[in-house]
Amino acid sequence: MPEAEVMSEPAVVSPPGTGKPLSVTALRKTYGGVTAVDEVSMEIAAGEFVTFLGASGSGKTTTLMMIAGFCEPDSGSIVVGGRDVTRLAPQKRGLGFVFQQYLLFPHLSVWENVAFPLQLRGVPKAELRRRVGETLEMAGLSGMARRRPRELSGGQQQRVALCRALVYRPPVILMDEPLGALDKKLRDQLQTEIKRIQRELGLTVIYVTHDQEEALVLSDRIAVMRDGLVDQFDTPQELFERPRTPFVADFLGAANFLPGQVEERTAEHCLVRLDTGGLLRARPQSPPRGARVQAAVQPGRLELCPPAEGFCTGTVETVTYVGTLVRVTVRLLDGTPGDVVRLELPAGRAPAVAERVGLTAQAADISVFEAEGGG
Ligand SMILES: Nc1ncnc2c1ncn2[C@@H]1O[C@H](COP(=O)(O)OP(=O)(O)O)[C@@H](O)[C@H]1O
Ligand SMILES: [Mg+2]
Repeated sequence: MPEAEVMSEPAVVSPPGTGKPLSVTALRKTYGGVTAVDEVSMEIAAGEFVTFLGASGSGKTTTLMMIAGFCEPDSGSIVVGGRDVTRLAPQKRGLGFVFQQYLLFPHLSVWENVAFPLQLRGVPKAELRRRVGETLEMAGLSGMARRRPRELSGGQQQRVALCRALVYRPPVILMDEPLGALDKKLRDQLQTEIKRIQRELGLTVIYVTHDQEEALVLSDRIAVMRDGLVDQFDTPQELFERPRTPFVADFLGAANFLPGQVEERTAEHCLVRLDTGGLLRARPQSPPRGARVQAAVQPGRLELCPPAEGFCTGTVETVTYVGTLVRVTVRLLDGTPGDVVRLELPAGRAPAVAERVGLTAQAADISVFEAEGGG
């Protein structure tokens, strides 16, 4: 998308945090027989940091490009700051962009790169100088204003690209995997900076990533995408605690899935008879009595207990220390061969390999889903 940044000059600039929400209604895009985006609808509040999270090919970029105006939707509408922009050119939508390739002008200095969007808009010299100076300072680049992009590291170049998108204060900034090309340490550092700048300026950001951890660190809300659809659009906490689909439970938390059948469902709980024989108490939101189900529980929400007291029993197979945590795998007794449950425990509570253990968890931490293929 090389032309994107050069063209990304909004006609309307409103102070951060005061714009009306951005809303997208029933956006759809197909390429030949392939449905890239299939009816995506969402409302984004001013000042919110929203992330599209999904595997490669789930429709994140296509959705973002339709919002940006570089890709025409087959149907649906996009409203930015109270204005229907569905048919407007990208540069008239009042949006800023930062992409994975930073696309700086190689022959211009850092200062000139960041000043460029303001020059395009004819911002008076004194104000231009003030705003470029402030923006560079905020990003920790003041000392590098005279350098050319090739004299900067990858992380510094990405920061300059961020400055260039921020300097004209667009009410909404779109970022498509902007840190994807950087190593882990730099990524962590820039995530913190992006979040700080977003908070300080009250920016509305729509961010695309396939990295769960990055999404969790940055976002007020995350839209989990799969096959061109949003499975769930919620806060990180809600996604963890109340996943609406098995996909969300698995994608965000690497959940364990235990097969069974609903034995009882009341207002307080749901009882699942596991295929391994034990009885599991779960959240009341579940398919009806008799349904074949999968009970999902995150590794961090499982606890070990004496074998007789758990909803299932097994043998500790591996214990791996990861900092202050241990990852533990337990092979279930009475499970089908290969049934292994993963736990994460504080390092002080690590069991011994080959120990016989029971598994337990709070009912509120267990989600119950209809088993695939029904039955
Ligand atoms: N220009 C295009 N022509 C044909 N197919 C496309 C085009 N852009 C995207 N697609 C397809 O649409 C789907 C979603 O792609 P994309 O939005 O790029 O996903 P993501 O950003 O989540 O990786 C994929 O199956 C992809 O192959
Ligand atoms: Mg993409």
